[in-house]
Amino acid sequence: MKIMHLHNKQTSIIIAQLDDSVPWIPYLGASLSEQIDLVQFINNTTPMQPSGYLDIHPQLSVFSTEADGLYATPTLRGHSNGEHWCPVFKFTSWNQLQPNHLDILLTSAESALEVTVSLQLDDSGVIAMRNTIKNCSDKAYQLDDFLVSIPVPELAKELLSYTGRWLQEFQPQRSKLIFGSQLFENLRGKTSNDHFPGIVVGTENFREQQGQVMGCHLAWSGNHKIQIEKSQQGYSYILAGAKLSPGEICLETNDQFSTPWLYSAYSENGLTAMSRQFHRFVRKEIIKFPDVNKPRLVHLNTWEAVYFRHDMNELKKLADSAASVGVERFILDDGWFVGRESDNAGLGDWYVDTKKYPDGLSPLITHVNDLGMEFGLWFEPEMINPDSDLYRAHPDWVLQTYSEYQPLARTQYVLDLSKPEVFDYLIERLDSLLTEYNIAYIKWDMNRDLAQASHNGRASVFNQTTKVYDLFDAIRIKHPRVEIESCASGGGRVDYEVLKRTHRFWASDCNDAIERQTIQRNFSMFFPLEVMGAHMGPETCHTTRRVLDSQFRSLTALFGHMGIEAHLNECSEQEIKEFTHAIKLYKKYRDLIHSGDLVRLDSEIQYVATGVVALDGKHALFSLSQINFTDSSLAKPLVLAGLEPEKMYKISTPTIPTDFASRMKKLPLWIINNSGYLSGKHLMTRGLAMPMLDAGSCFLIELEL
Ligand code: GLA
Repeated sequence: MKIMHLHNKQTSIIIAQLDDSVPWIPYLGASLSEQIDLVQFINNTTPMQPSGYLDIHPQLSVFSTEADGLYATPTLRGHSNGEHWCPVFKFTSWNQLQPNHLDILLTSAESALEVTVSLQLDDSGVIAMRNTIKNCSDKAYQLDDFLVSIPVPELAKELLSYTGRWLQEFQPQRSKLIFGSQLFENLRGKTSNDHFPGIVVGTENFREQQGQVMGCHLAWSGNHKIQIEKSQQGYSYILAGAKLSPGEICLETNDQFSTPWLYSAYSENGLTAMSRQFHRFVRKEIIKFPDVNKPRLVHLNTWEAVYFRHDMNELKKLADSAASVGVERFILDDGWFVGRESDNAGLGDWYVDTKKYPDGLSPLITHVNDLGMEFGLWFEPEMINPDSDLYRAHPDWVLQTYSEYQPLARTQYVLDLSKPEVFDYLIERLDSLLTEYNIAYIKWDMNRDLAQASHNGRASVFNQTTKVYDLFDAIRIKHPRVEIESCASGGGRVDYEVLKRTHRFWASDCNDAIERQTIQRNFSMFFPLEVMGAHMGPETCHTTRRVLDSQFRSLTALFGHMGIEAHLNECSEQEIKEFTHAIKLYKKYRDLIHSGDLVRLDSEIQYVATGVVALDGKHALFSLSQINFTDSSLAKPLVLAGLEPEKMYKISTPTIPTDFASRMKKLPLWIINNSGYLSGKHLMTRGLAMPMLDAGSCFLIELEL
């Protein structure tokens, strides 16, 4: 038996290989000591073949096909004119590119197919996997399914996945792992709200600080499938890849096709420790900020302030107010280009509307820049309204199957980016605006799902997705200093592959601070806080009509990339005071929030609590958001996590003291003095005395060594 052991401080992956069979992964879990006798370990931990099955002993290999006798979903489905539907792969070689990077080459002589399984273990603990297939035959090979598979730790019993919709993204759902398949299939043509491509499997009742968990995220912004298989033969595994439509991918001789990357992280200590690995990985490998030393600037986005009502004087006044509360970047949202009076017209005509901006955008941009702020601009490049000059000139540029039927969504169609003339038009338009104007930031929106997406009659979601990436890449090459936000009616295109090309996500169109607690908490499962757009909205939330206190709205936006989504000139004095204070806090703590380790505390129905601990452990900031009123007359102590047990922490609060008199005869001493001391151990076991908070309010706790 040949054995490879990829390992680091957190994780070990053992890959074993016998004779010429495809390698399998007998172990994936917490790091094993290097001295371990791996043959003994594998032989004494691997379950053996029961009676009543085939006389072979099938292993769940790194690339299982129907030929293996597993009777569970294979990684490959395809055929060559009806033949070679069940190829038998043999191990050919492995190539250890770096100590923790392995490429395994498999070949099927009969069907002349080659598969490379790439497996990489990053120092953060994140495992990256991708499969590539090459057709070496002289006949075309039709690919129906081509997936990555990763074994699920044996003790896993429960599944956490995410569903959602417009205004309510990242809604968690828990279920048991059951025999058979649990399938999440996204057909929306973008990452989607309803099936965010991330799941977690774990031991019973896994929580933030407890349980063995493995999270997996498929880095892909098109159709996808993620499937959890639990077979009667004792194998549980996750399959993931792009969801292909009939006929979509046909490999001609020497053509290659790769799955998206599947990123996974294992933790023995619950979800917070798993997220820590993903966050460190994203910071190191996925996001590429143009300037790593530049902080995440405070935004004001004009959408909910003015919608399509673009009046130069009003916008200038809004910019004045923004600068005075501490905003650092002013983003002009939808409504600035020709014909865009409402969301019924104009998409595609990326020329400044001279009715609204007789002298172009320069007067506004100069005004914004003179106030010391950067300027950002909204685009929705992939879209076209039938009521646009572009559509009137090129109705054939629409991504559709039959010209007579393509449903509209928000009165718009999608452009077929696989047509070079469409791609070139968009590059020319964006490039010329970014060249003419001092635009530091793009809010890149995508406001409809794809439907019957075809290029020359063939299914084309996969190609459209890669062309979207090409479009991002082409703009970034021409304008490398411009930061880009990925928005798709809020958080509809949130994934690592788009994050390789962008710098921020608009997590949701919903700025309701109550709804945001769930959205932001679950967003943070796979993404660090600095890429999560979080805005302070108006008193009455535009999307839910809920009325919330300005303190709660502003502190809910603190743990993210902060901004404002409100008409500052219509805000009350109290709101302006709160927003200004929150922006000051954000500027003070953003280095910590955007570089430290996130600690989510297990929430109860009444509250949500989160913190960030500096990498050196010397500084931390926690927030307690009270959602409903407490269920007991004494406020429960808040039990923290992620601290150093032996260290003594100085405790204080940067929250503006409010009037607690109606609920508390006496406040905890550390709040009265705004100073107190407790060890990490006591903070993490006994907990910190808290005041009784109003429902819909937030309290901050700062810890320093
Ligand atoms: C989408 C975005 C919003 C806003 C509008 C503009 O809904 O999510 O933030 O930009 O489009 O049309």
